[in-house]
Amino acid sequence: MLEIRSNAKINLGLKVLNKRKDGYHNLHSLFLPITLFDRLEFRHNDEITVTTTIDDFVPQELNLCYKAAKALQRFTGTNQGVYIHCEKVIPMGAGLGGGSANAGTTLLALKTLWNIDISMKELLSIAVTLGSDVPFFLHNTPTIVGGKGDELTVFPMKEFPYSILLVNPGIHSPTVSAFKSLGRTERFSADIPDYNDFLHYGSFELFSSKYSLENDFEPILFAEFPILEEIKKKLRSFGANFSIMSGSGSTMLGLFSNNNDSELLQSAYQYFRDIYPSTYIVHCILT
Ligand code: C5P
Repeated sequence: MLEIRSNAKINLGLKVLNKRKDGYHNLHSLFLPITLFDRLEFRHNDEITVTTTIDDFVPQELNLCYKAAKALQRFTGTNQGVYIHCEKVIPMGAGLGGGSANAGTTLLALKTLWNIDISMKELLSIAVTLGSDVPFFLHNTPTIVGGKGDELTVFPMKEFPYSILLVNPGIHSPTVSAFKSLGRTERFSADIPDYNDFLHYGSFELFSSKYSLENDFEPILFAEFPILEEIKKKLRSFGANFSIMSGSGSTMLGLFSNNNDSELLQSAYQYFRDIYPSTYIVHCILT
């Protein structure tokens, strides 16, 4: 039996570039793994069976753990099965990559449980068929993500001197329509931030003001759900050094410098937690 923590991610900036011939979009983003986890349990079994703590009547075949196990079974030709139980904590449809994290964790866990000889390159090729965010979760370290989500450049960040306050107001944002609303063409181009400057400055305020670091989905979601922009402003008024939406939404995050008075973060946490139960203080995972 294997028990593994499957952690979420945040995006610090998300540029959606041109539309590709395969219908996807080229992206540019800094992905950071964070200390918000689902717990996954893997046991030998004859078939692939998945249970979760979420009582949502969704058939197991649609669960990304199931899809990942099935894809690995097909790729390797193994006849081994697995029983997977997922204790769900990461809010779903929230821009935190919860489902993708579970798929990535499943691939890595089954490599061990099934004792399969498969390279990282082969695992990445399976991961990208499961979802654009899944390849990131195989490395699960701060990464500049490009392409449709499959071009990974490890970001050699030694420290991240901020606590992260996540506020998820429970607004479900459908990814496909968010991309469509942007109306990107094949020729679209935009400036992208040079994240290496963050390594140089060490301060996200300085870095983000130089590049006006943005999430391109914010204007789309803010127009439909003005509360999100209010949360962004409120995070700043509570003392966050920087605030932005993660992924295609709707989780908003605030960075609180570890040099600041921790009371600021605590009072922001209390305020948001009373309104939105899915409010968390988390940290970046650097390893
Ligand atoms: O890959 P994933 O299943 O997460 O993508 C969901 C949808 O989001 C895709 O079908 C596509 O419409 C859109 N998408 C995109 N460009 C990306 C990632 C996702 O257009 N890089």
